[in-house]
Amino acid sequence: MPSSAEIAAKYDNIILLPQTNQLLGLYSIIRDSQTRRPDFVFYADRIIRLLVEEGLNHLPVEPKTITTPTGLPYDGLDFQGKICGVSIVRAGESMEQGLRECCRSVRIGKILIQRDEETALPKLFYEKLPEDISDRYVFLLDPMLATGGSAMMAVEVLLSRNVMPERIFFLNLLAAPEGIETFQEKFPQIKIITGGIDEKLDEHKFIVPGLGDFGDRYYCI
Ligand code: URA
Repeated sequence: MPSSAEIAAKYDNIILLPQTNQLLGLYSIIRDSQTRRPDFVFYADRIIRLLVEEGLNHLPVEPKTITTPTGLPYDGLDFQGKICGVSIVRAGESMEQGLRECCRSVRIGKILIQRDEETALPKLFYEKLPEDISDRYVFLLDPMLATGGSAMMAVEVLLSRNVMPERIFFLNLLAAPEGIETFQEKFPQIKIITGGIDEKLDEHKFIVPGLGDFGDRYYCI
């Protein structure tokens, strides 16, 4: 099976977290079917923090010189650009806290997309977004990029609110090559920031080897 890094190398807009021993250890815990909910939440949250920090690395900065308590100057950087989060309900809400821990009082919008019972296609049920979202960089939050159907519909909503595609970063913990392919073909300017890329989707559209249903494991006992 090709590694996440080998798969990521095939795509232009994939940013894969460095596959360090720490990260692989965290994934080994959350992927394990024997891991109980408190540990799943704790270790998934650690990965979410890493994804958010990586996303923040892609925002613009300007040089800024400050004075330290020793009275000497330090040539540093000033963060530019307003951000907001948009979670795809329900699983994406698990990533909101990680974003808040890195960006105090960040605005977070929500999009609810569910399968339409009649057509079996994803359907937009609800959206609540910051009014000034078109002035912001947007971290789109959904832990699993499987087929990409919900994420693509969420992006359509953001674009309809005049968010510039190059200002959207899609953060997820695990992606399937099929989802990456479809998403990138449709939105080549949008960066996907992920912690792992798995082999494929199975016949139920689950990522394999994967970690199961993220929302169930994060929210249900
Ligand atoms: N959503 C999940 O929670 N798990 C998958 O494997 C695919 C989509």
